[in-house]
Amino acid sequence: MIFTVAIDGPAAAGKGTISRALAAEFGFAHLDTGLLYRAVGAKGGDPELAAQNLSPEDLARPDLRSLEAGQAASRVAVLPAVRAALTEFQRRFARRPGGAVLDGRDIGTVICPQAEVKLYVTASAEVRARRRWLEVGGDAAQVLAEVRERDDRDMTRAEAPLKPAPDALVLDTSTMTIEQAVTEAIRIVAARSASSTTA
Ligand code: DC
Repeated sequence: MIFTVAIDGPAAAGKGTISRALAAEFGFAHLDTGLLYRAVGAKGGDPELAAQNLSPEDLARPDLRSLEAGQAASRVAVLPAVRAALTEFQRRFARRPGGAVLDGRDIGTVICPQAEVKLYVTASAEVRARRRWLEVGGDAAQVLAEVRERDDRDMTRAEAPLKPAPDALVLDTSTMTIEQAVTEAIRIVAARSASSTTA
C-alpha cells in the first residue's frame, strides 16, 4: 500500500507530535524533514556538499534541536542546490510501501503533491513562541522574535516557500490542546484512508 500523509506548517505548530502520533496509530514510517536541513546547517562548510553527503551520524547529532540549529537550517533551506540534493530521498521515502508521514514546509506543495492526505498545521506566532519557550526557556521576547524571523524567511523565500497546498486541510491548533489536535488529525487520516481503500 502506498499512502502518504504530508504535514506542513511553521515552527512549533505541533507538526512533530501530530506526525509521530499518526505514524504510531497507522503503522506508517515517519520522516522529520526539518532534521535534514538542521543537519546540513549544523555540518558547516559548503551547504550543497553537506546536503549531498549527509550521513546517519550527521542526523544523529545531539545539538540539532536547538534554536541555533533551527536558524541555521532556515538559512541553508533558501538555497535551491541544497533543496535539490535532499528531494530524491524525501520523494522515495514518501512513496515507500506501507505508508509514510513526512513533516516539513514543502511536502504537500513540492515533495509529494500526490499525497493522499495533506495537512497544514498552524497556530498564531504568539502561541507557537510560548510553546517553544516552555520547551527551551530563555528570554520569551527573544523566542517570539526568532519564531517571527524564521516564519518570514521560510514563507518569503523564492524556492519552495512555506504555504498550504491548494488542497490541504488547515488545522489551526492555537486554541487546541495537543491531544485535541492529534485526535482531529487521526480522524482526518482515518476518513481518507477508508475512502481510498473503498474507491
Ligand atoms: O521543522 P524544523 O523547525 O525542524 O525546520 C527547520 C528549518 O528547516 C525550517 O525553518 C525551514 C527548513 N525546512 C524546509 O525548508 N523544508 C522542510 N521540508 C523542512 C524544514
